[in-house]
Amino acid sequence: MQTGSRQFEQGIGVCALGGLGAPVHGEIGRLPPEIWMQDGAKRVEQALARRLCAEYDGETELMEAMRYATLQGGKRTRALLCMAAGALAGTSAHVLDEVGAAIEMMHACTLVHDDLPAMDDDVLRRGLPTVHVKFGEATAILVGDALQAHAFMILASLETPSDHRIALVRELAQAVSAEGAAGGQAMDLSLVGKHVELDKIVAMHRMKCGALVRASVRMGALCAISDDAAHAPLYCALDRYGACFGLALQVIDDILDATADIATLGKTPGKDAAAQKPTCASIMGLQAARQFASDLLRDAGEAIVPLGLRAERLAQILQRANAFLFKHAPCA
Ligand code: IPE
Ligand code: IPE
Ligand code: MG
Ligand code: MG
Ligand code: MG
Repeated sequence: MQTGSRQFEQGIGVCALGGLGAPVHGEIGRLPPEIWMQDGAKRVEQALARRLCAEYDGETELMEAMRYATLQGGKRTRALLCMAAGALAGTSAHVLDEVGAAIEMMHACTLVHDDLPAMDDDVLRRGLPTVHVKFGEATAILVGDALQAHAFMILASLETPSDHRIALVRELAQAVSAEGAAGGQAMDLSLVGKHVELDKIVAMHRMKCGALVRASVRMGALCAISDDAAHAPLYCALDRYGACFGLALQVIDDILDATADIATLGKTPGKDAAAQKPTCASIMGLQAARQFASDLLRDAGEAIVPLGLRAERLAQILQRANAFLFKHAPCA
């Protein structure tokens, strides 16, 4: 297993960095992945804390619950994707911190609502009691509402040209719309207890998890570069990367729900089976689902080959997800 894992990690790295001679932008490629990821996570957490500070918004229970929902852990994958794509597009670090914070707020909103009794009825998130358990259901609903609003306020007040701001707002809105996370979550609930084909699960995963992941990648680039005909190759590569990685993340989440322990997950294990949710793991079997996730990560790596070394950080994020999968859901 270890050998396979190492081979796979190398596979992603080598293929994504194909040595096509693209110029290296700024500091990309100079910092070891664990350093820039730690730094990126810290920067986005500082931006979140600035935006949700008591002085700015008043010390209410709602604000306390919003901080609880956003500042207590999380891998910060979506913010890091935004930062990695933004760095390759030449977006300033300050703008990326803000956009990363907006994305993580929106992600936190989807998690808080996902955990509600009317949805997955979960009591544990990021190793802590869920927001509705700690603050009550009404506050948890309002936390999600307010986090969405705050996310859009951040984007609307960015120091970037107005056409870029509009593109960012549209992108984030679309990702959580009925075509994105909200639609995917509705589908998730409608499929409970049903036997469904894999195609349907894949479509649901692309919406409920994939859409925001894909948007996170696009938003990093959209801060600096328009998605127009002149930049079609860039957006084509980023979109394929984001679509494959977004789907892979939900497949990995499904696998880990069935295989990992509470300490690893920071969530209640075995929830999908207990709630009779059809998932990639339940439909394909664990082994095939693992292979599916690995193939998707490989496809995501291949998609960014044309971007050369500029995409190194995007490749490193894939390696992190792959290492996580192999560590916590080892092959039988
Ligand atoms: C969990 O996402 C929910 C899914 C969409 C799969 P993450 O695994 O990225 O959650 P955090 O942000 O690290 O807690
Ligand atoms: C939900 O998927 C994805 C979201 C849009 C929040 P899950 O319900 O599987 O996410 P977890 O396992 O609770 O994090
Ligand atoms: Mg759910
Ligand atoms: Mg859930
Ligand atoms: Mg899950």
